[in-house]
Amino acid sequence: MDGNGRWAEQQGEHRVMGHANGVRSVREALLAATEIGVEYLTLYAFSTENWKRPTAEVEALMDLLVRTVIGELAELHTNGVRLNTIGDIDSLPENCRKTLQEAIEATKNNDRITITLALSYSARWEIVNMARKLATMAAQGTLDPATITDATISEHLTTVGMPDPELLIRTSGEQRVSNFLLWQIAYAELWFTPVLWPDFRKEHLFQAVLDYQNRERRFGLVSEQITPR
Ligand code: FPP
Repeated sequence: MDGNGRWAEQQGEHRVMGHANGVRSVREALLAATEIGVEYLTLYAFSTENWKRPTAEVEALMDLLVRTVIGELAELHTNGVRLNTIGDIDSLPENCRKTLQEAIEATKNNDRITITLALSYSARWEIVNMARKLATMAAQGTLDPATITDATISEHLTTVGMPDPELLIRTSGEQRVSNFLLWQIAYAELWFTPVLWPDFRKEHLFQAVLDYQNRERRFGLVSEQITPR
C-alpha cells in the first residue's frame, strides 16, 4: 500500500494524512475483492523495517490501525469478512494486539473473504523463524531433514493454511517486492501501477484482475501443456 507519504506531501500535508486517506482505499480494495469472489486479500500494512520511521509516524499508524479495526468491525462482520494477521504481532503495542485479537475472534466464523494484515512483517523474518523451528525439530529428533519438502516449509510459515497469492499488486510506481511473502509469491503474477495508495479505487483492482486473467500462467511448463489443443 505504497505512496501514502508522497500523496500527503503533494498536498502540503503531513505523511500521516496520507495513511489516514489510505484507509478508504483499503475499504475499496476489500469491497472490490469481495464483489468478484476473491477469497484471500493480504495487505502489507507495516513492515519490520517500518519500526525505524519517526516515532510519531509509527504511533500514528498504530493508532489508525486500532481506530480503523474498531470502527469497521461491524461492517466487516456483516460482509462475511474474516480478519487475520501475519507478522511479529507480539511486538505491537498492547492495545493494538488486544483490538486485533478481539476482531479476529469475532470474525473467525466468516467465510466470504479473509483479509490478512501483515503487521511488523517481513519475509526474511518469517523465513528465519521457519528455519529455526525446523532446525530445532531436527535437533530434537522429531524431524528427519531428508523428509523436508516445499510443503514442510509452507506449513512452518505464518501463512500456513493460506493459498499462495496468485496476484501481487504494488502501487506508487515502485517495482520491487520489498521483503513481502518471498516464498509464497514464487508463481504470483506481479502488477505495478503508478497510482498512489490513497488514490487506489475499486476500478484499479478490477483492472489488475482483468490483466491477470489475460496472462498465461505456465508454472514452468509449455503453453500446450496448460491448454491442450
Ligand atoms: C506505505 O506508504 C504505507 C504504510 C507504511 C502504511 C499503510 C497503512 C495504511 C494504509 C493504514 C492501514 C489500515 C488498515 C486497517 C490496514 P509510505 O508511507 O511508504 O508512502 P511513501 O512511499 O509515499 O513514503
